[in-house]
Amino acid sequence: MKLIDGKALSETIKSEIAEEVKKLKDRDKKIPHLAAVLVGNDPASQSYVRSKVKSCEMVGFESTLINKDDSITQEELMEIISDLNNDEDIDGFIVQLPLPKHIDATAVTLAIDPKKDVDGFHPVNFGRMAQGLPCYLPATPFGIVQMLDRYNIPTEGKHTVVVGRSNIVGKPMSILMGMKSKVGNSTVTLAHSRTKDLAAETLRADIIIAAIGIPNFITADMVKEGVVIIDVGINRVDDESRKRGYRLVGDVDFEPVSKKASFITPVPGGVGPMTVTSLLMNTLMSSKKEVYG
Ligand code: GUN
Repeated sequence: MKLIDGKALSETIKSEIAEEVKKLKDRDKKIPHLAAVLVGNDPASQSYVRSKVKSCEMVGFESTLINKDDSITQEELMEIISDLNNDEDIDGFIVQLPLPKHIDATAVTLAIDPKKDVDGFHPVNFGRMAQGLPCYLPATPFGIVQMLDRYNIPTEGKHTVVVGRSNIVGKPMSILMGMKSKVGNSTVTLAHSRTKDLAAETLRADIIIAAIGIPNFITADMVKEGVVIIDVGINRVDDESRKRGYRLVGDVDFEPVSKKASFITPVPGGVGPMTVTSLLMNTLMSSKKEVYG
């Protein structure tokens, strides 16, 4: 079994980005600039956004944090988005989700200029992805593609089973794994909560991408020898022995499954750390006008 070390890989990629930024600075070129909009004071969202801003600083990007009270109106938020769309210095921006209940999150996503949608949530970017056109991939799928690519894990002709059909992980991954590209060319099954015999599907899988949000859901009896496991789950389970009272586990029962796997991502330290790196890569691509010209 080989561990896919997302933490180490994300550090490597961040160093590569920092190197590029240094070259841009040396040549007096524009420095990539990411903006993040955070509404309210949800601790998890605050922590995610802080980590995104900190990562920008680490690689030498400029960053702007726009923090608004959760009493903000839809119109006020739309105005902020419009300003960011029109601000030539901002290469890309994100609106951290979830948003308060009185805000229409779909309308917010649709209001973001696809050229600046470095979260890859806009349907224009999703459609471009599905057609193999240059686009911003959402953070988690981009991170997974990077992992499979950099670990040289063969995907061509393999059978991939994606478990979970969310718009930002399962659905895009099911498309990407079947694309005609280095990471791709696999035969894909998209399994979900209505799949009849999930174990029958996962037992046929050479690659399993688990994104269902249920702790330890994929057990050793559901996987075959040599399987590649990408575990997207980040679930809190009670643990009295930890100071904070919980620990993080994935959607895959790590210990027993790892004994059968050829490659596996740990939780924490697997897919999670790759997501911020993806956002930085998208922002760099935007500042270099690599996606929309
Ligand atoms: N909330 C949880 N993950 C994400 C993400 O990747 N982007 C945004 N905008 N909000 C999130």
